[in-house]
Amino acid sequence: MIVLLLGSGGREHALARSFSADPEVERLLVVPGNPGTAKIAENVALDPNNAEEMVDIALRERVDLVVVGPEAPLVSGVAQALREAGLAVFGPDRQAAALEGSKAFAKEIMEEAGVPTAQALVCTDEAAVQSALDNFGSPYVVKNDGLAAGKGVVVTLDRQEALDHALSCLSTEGGRVLIEEYLDGPEVSLFCLSDGKTVVPLEPAQDYKRLLDEGQGPNTGGMGAYSPLGWVPNSLAQQVVNEVAKPVVERMAQRGTPFIGLLYCGLALTTSGIRVVEFNVRFGDPETQVILPRLKTPLAQLLLACARGKLAEFGPLSWSKQEAITVVLAAAGYPQAPEKGDLITGIDAAEAVPGVHIIHAGTALNEEEELISAGGRVLCVTALAPTVAAARESAYEALDKIRLEGSHFRTDIGH
Ligand code: AMP
Ligand code: GLY
Repeated sequence: MIVLLLGSGGREHALARSFSADPEVERLLVVPGNPGTAKIAENVALDPNNAEEMVDIALRERVDLVVVGPEAPLVSGVAQALREAGLAVFGPDRQAAALEGSKAFAKEIMEEAGVPTAQALVCTDEAAVQSALDNFGSPYVVKNDGLAAGKGVVVTLDRQEALDHALSCLSTEGGRVLIEEYLDGPEVSLFCLSDGKTVVPLEPAQDYKRLLDEGQGPNTGGMGAYSPLGWVPNSLAQQVVNEVAKPVVERMAQRGTPFIGLLYCGLALTTSGIRVVEFNVRFGDPETQVILPRLKTPLAQLLLACARGKLAEFGPLSWSKQEAITVVLAAAGYPQAPEKGDLITGIDAAEAVPGVHIIHAGTALNEEEELISAGGRVLCVTALAPTVAAARESAYEALDKIRLEGSHFRTDIGH
């Protein structure tokens, strides 16, 4: 099988790693990829958001499966263009991708499908915002309706900060903002595969969204993750399939816009039950880095079955008994203004720690072919071990060996 993977972050390096371990994969192309994927695949320097170029390369290279990593090309219709060209694609069409692309649309579908989520009001002017803030009260939850690369949501006790964020969301062309009920309770990420009809869950993971230890500091794209979750009941995944993912997938099919790809269910486990915090329409980052290394089922074959509408016939997934954790090494200045272009050393020493592998998230090579930082989240140090505690120890031992000026990481991942 020839696989074409779109994207360039840590998620894509983790996906590429699993594809290259699938015995059916003869060739793996990554557009544009990163220095991590370059070691295990062929990087192609094209723009994954350019639908025409993606169709061209997929047809020219006779790829059997295209996997779209990030949300932007999904929301803009790149998966759709590929599918319309007759390719087998893992990733939803534009209308189904609106489950992530518009939070207001996601709420509408959840309402239609009877899926439990936070109550929300969609506001288009300041008067509506003022009244919604008073209506829901503190803590305030304010969300930009559209894609905002992890910067769209503010959760705060400070009414002025909530109002300021809402107004900045409204200030853009066609700006809409959601004010919603605060959900109290631990968060869980559950990835559900869908071929448009059948839904198969992966194992749950937990992401650490805040920048600093103990959940302090601003929200980020995610500073670390671990999986499996020893503290959730085994029945959770099936419950989420029954109460959340299946009703949504069925509703999307009824609307004539089937969801083919990965439905990321971001959940809060509240005292009144499971509530959806958000949907994403792609693998989560960094959760993918802890889920995929534990999946023993060959990934390209699995995603091909989704793309071809044959998930029901695929058979049960097989999981490693190991526990996994990943810790994100972020650049100085992340998330506001990450510094780029600084030298990274010590990766080989870090990877020599048993059970550890390094995922590249925001790296590049300079003219001397040395590894440098090129993004906010630079590396994900992933460790597998028989217990979370042992995995933690290995991951932090490996982090100790990596040098990147001004870089920082959370010290409480998996605690
Ligand atoms: P989102 O982009 O919707 O996932 O929001 C980012 C983060 O903000 C979530 O992972 C939560 O930690 C927090 N958040 C979002 N919505 C709520 C809510 N209704 N109540 C409490 N926290 C929330
Ligand atoms: N880890 C959160 C996300 O991928 O959006």
